[in-house]
Amino acid sequence: MCGIVGAVAKRNVVPILVEGLLRLEYRGYDSAGLVVVNDKSLERVRSTGRVAELAEKSLKTNGTIGIAHTRWATHGVPSERNAHPHTSNELIAVVHNGIIENYEELRSKLTGEGYIFTSDTDTEVIAHLIHSYYIKNKDLLKSTQSALAELVGAYAIGVIAADNPDQLIGARKGSPLLLGVGEGEYFIASDMSALLQVTQKVVYLEEGDVVALALVGYKIYDAKGGAIERPVNISELNNESVELGEYQHYMQKEIHEQPQALADTLESVCNSQSLVPGIFGAEAANSFAQINRILILACGTSSHAGMVAKYWLEEIAGVPCAVEIASEYRYRVSVADPETLIVTISQSGETADTLAALNHAKSIGHKHTLAICNVPESAIIRQSKLRFLTRAGPEIGVASTKAFTTQLAALFLLTLVLAKQNGRLSAKQEQAHLHDLRHLPSAVLAVLKAEPEIAELAKHFADKHHALFLGRGLHYPIALEGALKLKEISYIHAEAYPAGELKHGPLALVDSDMPVVAVAPNDILLEKLKSNLQEVKARGGQLYVFADSETKIHSSEGVHVMQMPEHAGFLSPILHTIPLQLLAYYVALQKGTDVDKPRNLAKSVTVE
Ligand code: G6P
Repeated sequence: MCGIVGAVAKRNVVPILVEGLLRLEYRGYDSAGLVVVNDKSLERVRSTGRVAELAEKSLKTNGTIGIAHTRWATHGVPSERNAHPHTSNELIAVVHNGIIENYEELRSKLTGEGYIFTSDTDTEVIAHLIHSYYIKNKDLLKSTQSALAELVGAYAIGVIAADNPDQLIGARKGSPLLLGVGEGEYFIASDMSALLQVTQKVVYLEEGDVVALALVGYKIYDAKGGAIERPVNISELNNESVELGEYQHYMQKEIHEQPQALADTLESVCNSQSLVPGIFGAEAANSFAQINRILILACGTSSHAGMVAKYWLEEIAGVPCAVEIASEYRYRVSVADPETLIVTISQSGETADTLAALNHAKSIGHKHTLAICNVPESAIIRQSKLRFLTRAGPEIGVASTKAFTTQLAALFLLTLVLAKQNGRLSAKQEQAHLHDLRHLPSAVLAVLKAEPEIAELAKHFADKHHALFLGRGLHYPIALEGALKLKEISYIHAEAYPAGELKHGPLALVDSDMPVVAVAPNDILLEKLKSNLQEVKARGGQLYVFADSETKIHSSEGVHVMQMPEHAGFLSPILHTIPLQLLAYYVALQKGTDVDKPRNLAKSVTVE
């Protein structure tokens, strides 16, 4: 959601800005723009189309300092006049990610001072506010710091001034921004993928940091305004990990990367002979000994991972577990229990609601916090006491795939560690689980072989407007995830139900036009599920059943069965996710939708 790139160099920065924006496209956006300083004036190009269109429009633009942005509309419709950068009096230009909550108040104050607004955005107040200081003190850093002091809300910003071709200011509070360190050239960006084209060296800015970039170097100031040193890290990402390679879409690539992502995530554990709390951080053993229940907070796909974990944690580890949508929890009056472990799950580690829920939990007295996250140095990681990094690699497709299955792997490890601590895991059981985890990547690989078969099944869905997903127990959240994938990228209305609820409402919807997808592992609920499927069949519904080979459910009139290669016991939800991801992908291909960048959605939702 919204992407920022900025650069100061001795060469023309427009190609760097454009390439950076292309790398940030995956975050989701509806317009794009850039501005450079050329001959002491601002040259701005904006477009409501794709970044490729902006690239076309800026072919003749040239400058050695500039900022660029992809916008995901919050205040004001997607349009060229609302696209960033926003300028003030042809002197100040600003790009912004986040939401300024007091923008109406600031807007009327600035209007009173004679400023004319040309957009409906909250961002434009930042440009005018900085301008109002800059015309008095001619100091871009100080003007930006003064303006930031007046803002309420979340931001990552980039600022330049037409008469100051050697200084770029960046700042972050509540939205991600990092600094790239090149050879005599410096950059800012929302995430590292935008900068791999120019450098591997990265400085992660802290909350409240302001950075001043110039050709001679950079200086960072903390929230109190004091100069501060931050470590320079070498990013582990490489260009290859964010390139499409042989695949048609990032989503397809990422579905296929799951065996490797799982192997990487489980590497340290699978290479050892036993499970230790230390995999969740140095203080984990101490924290785990003090907790007796778990509250999982997350959004979207990550919350589905949490729902699966609830079944595991209660059954295997004997730890009571609740799962709550972060955006609900953060505003609810709840009872803090000091013996609860707060677990946040987030691919990006920057989701505004999850971060706010974590901070809310801490503010009401929760001491024990664990983040399961795919992005090192993300806000959620930095603000949690304990952490587990999934090693899925960059996930570019908006619809989360490999992040989800690696989150499940991490949550299963948490379950086993707690089960061991609670005396509920014998040495033999521990070895058996470790064996299953080692086998998991190849089990996923075997499921991926069904891709052509699923591509065929997908054809049945292309002309449908609705679909129903059914699952029971551990696999009910997988049905939810399958429905979410389908609606996100194919725009088919899809709902998931625990199959036992079928006759309490959704059965009324079933007819020959309603495909019903069932997740049917060979577990203790299988016979119950089979009865539910009969209820669908009797009403003429078309059934698509993803069944383990031992389930003895066979294809017949109106029943299409895809046999899964094996039943993976407790790890079955991970295997059963794969065909549902592939189904959504191939239905979207049939429908010709924008698979990696579905309409209206963003990858990293950094605003409420
Ligand atoms: C957005 C993405 C989803 C993701 C959700 C939570 O809605 O499109 O794919 O599941 O945010 O994101 P997180 O990064 O916190 O897991």
